Amino acid sequence: MASFLLWSLVSFLYIHVHQASSQCLNKQTLYSETFRSEAFTLGPGEVQDKYYYMEFPTGHIALRGFFAEVVDEQGVPVPLSEVYLHHWVVLNRYVKQNHTQKFLAQDYSKYRSVPSKLGGNDGVCPDHTLDQFFGLGSETRHTNTSIPYPYGIVVGDPNKIPDGYEELWVLNIHAIDTRGVEDRQGCTECRCDLYNVTATKNGKPLKNYQGGLRCCTDGSQCSLSQGIPAARKKLFLQYTVEWVEWDESVVPLKVYIFDVTDTGDGCKIEYDIPSSLGLPSDSIDIRETRVVSPPSGQVIYGVAHQHSGGKGATLYGEDGREICTSLPLYGSGANAGDEVGYIVGMTSCYPKPGSVNINDKELLRLQSNYSTQQGHTGVMGLFYLLVASPQHGESTSKDGKFSSSSKSNSTLFKIVTGSKLSTSIVFGIVLASMATFIVAKHMRNRRALQYEALTA
Ligand SMILES: *[C@@H]1O[C@H](CO)[C@@H](O)[C@H](O)[C@H]1NC(C)=O
Ligand SMILES: *[C@@H]1O[C@H](CO)[C@@H](O)[C@H](O)[C@H]1NC(C)=O
Ligand SMILES: *[C@@H]1O[C@H](CO)[C@@H](O)[C@H](O)[C@H]1NC(C)=O
Ligand SMILES: *[C@@H]1O[C@H](CO)[C@@H](O)[C@H](O)[C@H]1NC(C)=O
Ligand SMILES: *[C@@H]1O[C@H](CO)[C@@H](O)[C@H](O)[C@H]1NC(C)=O
Repeated sequence: MASFLLWSLVSFLYIHVHQASSQCLNKQTLYSETFRSEAFTLGPGEVQDKYYYMEFPTGHIALRGFFAEVVDEQGVPVPLSEVYLHHWVVLNRYVKQNHTQKFLAQDYSKYRSVPSKLGGNDGVCPDHTLDQFFGLGSETRHTNTSIPYPYGIVVGDPNKIPDGYEELWVLNIHAIDTRGVEDRQGCTECRCDLYNVTATKNGKPLKNYQGGLRCCTDGSQCSLSQGIPAARKKLFLQYTVEWVEWDESVVPLKVYIFDVTDTGDGCKIEYDIPSSLGLPSDSIDIRETRVVSPPSGQVIYGVAHQHSGGKGATLYGEDGREICTSLPLYGSGANAGDEVGYIVGMTSCYPKPGSVNINDKELLRLQSNYSTQQGHTGVMGLFYLLVASPQHGESTSKDGKFSSSSKSNSTLFKIVTGSKLSTSIVFGIVLASMATFIVAKHMRNRRALQYEALTA
């Protein structure tokens, strides 16, 4: 417990003390500035899922980190048990000059009418799904997004911004106020019955859909239990951006997001976990998909996104080698950053540059595990990967050093195969029942790792 407190304190200092500061690191000056989103107000059971124009550093820069959390008017962190942060997401858009005022004044549903071009990351979902540069959910307080020197996510590049357009930044905040609700977990998992939703906004009936984003849309209301209703609360997303000015020493990173639901027909983002109903209590649901890797390069950073019930996710190479495993950290108390039952952090991977590489057109395998102790709706298995790709004409050789011996043709990000969901459930159940002992032992080891900080 003591080490958890110390750890919280260290993170707290790390995240909050350096408002608009800068420091010199290996000749690059690291800038850091803390902003607040527009205010939003929530009452018990209410949902907000809006897109805001956000303040963001300007110019040709390389992003080095992004930290965010929900705070109240006094700047006090709000625990997930009160306001569940389903996700925040940071995107860029190129907006036609002289239309920015209109853009700023409107929310997402309306700004589609403003002449703008999509910006976005480097893939891999079709149709600009999951095209954010940064995005996290309940794990936001203890997930390290720092990018090490000399790497960075380069934005504001005048050569990339189309003529006559400006680059603007958009923040999507999806939050659910669970004070006084009938079923806290059900509300955070967007269970349709609790929101009294049976059809989409256009009136199309939701068939075979128990829960997920379509049932906790902006302005929807989760079922309350009897009692004295709590007061409405004014809230903000407080975020800190870290960056350096762009110069030749910056090694640019590509941003990829893989989705375990992407089995060849698009990224569905969410899936459900059936409960194990009498199977061993530690049986797990294992989902997998295979994705052809984007261009080759050195893996610099990786992290998964899962919801409560998550047991971790791994990205494997074609030869079965582990590229990155990201494990959830569960809270064990009541305070913001340590809420019991919630995922309060995900471990991230920082391989020594050059030690973990992906090859051209390599068939990667993403695996996402969940506990089946309880059923869940609307969970996720996303994997965020930052890759340093060889510059034009170079390629990554076996030992990870860039060489220019062979060309890379890197326009394809394509899904080749995906395991059928039912197959992976059966696989999961069979595996869990046949090898309970091994799995249990394995999980105990994992737990020892992931709970170390909480129980020591
Ligand atoms: C985040 O990771 C980087 C690179 O491993 C490390 O230097 C830094 O101390 C970490 N920050 C926190 C808050 O854990
Ligand atoms: C923006 O407005 C100014 C002044 O009204 C005009 O001179 C300029 O051409 C406009 N720019 C674009 C890209 O329309
Ligand atoms: C649920 O929705 C139905 C139809 O839209 C409505 O008649 C009913 O009053 C709603 N129930 C609650 C508890 O809001
Ligand atoms: C997911 O489950 C499989 C099968 O038990 C196991 O091999 C893998 O290590 C698990 N992944 C994580 C991240 O725990
Ligand atoms: C890359 O792929 C495109 C489209 O498939 C093709 O036209 C082009 O010749 C390829 N270039 C190289 C260098 O292989």
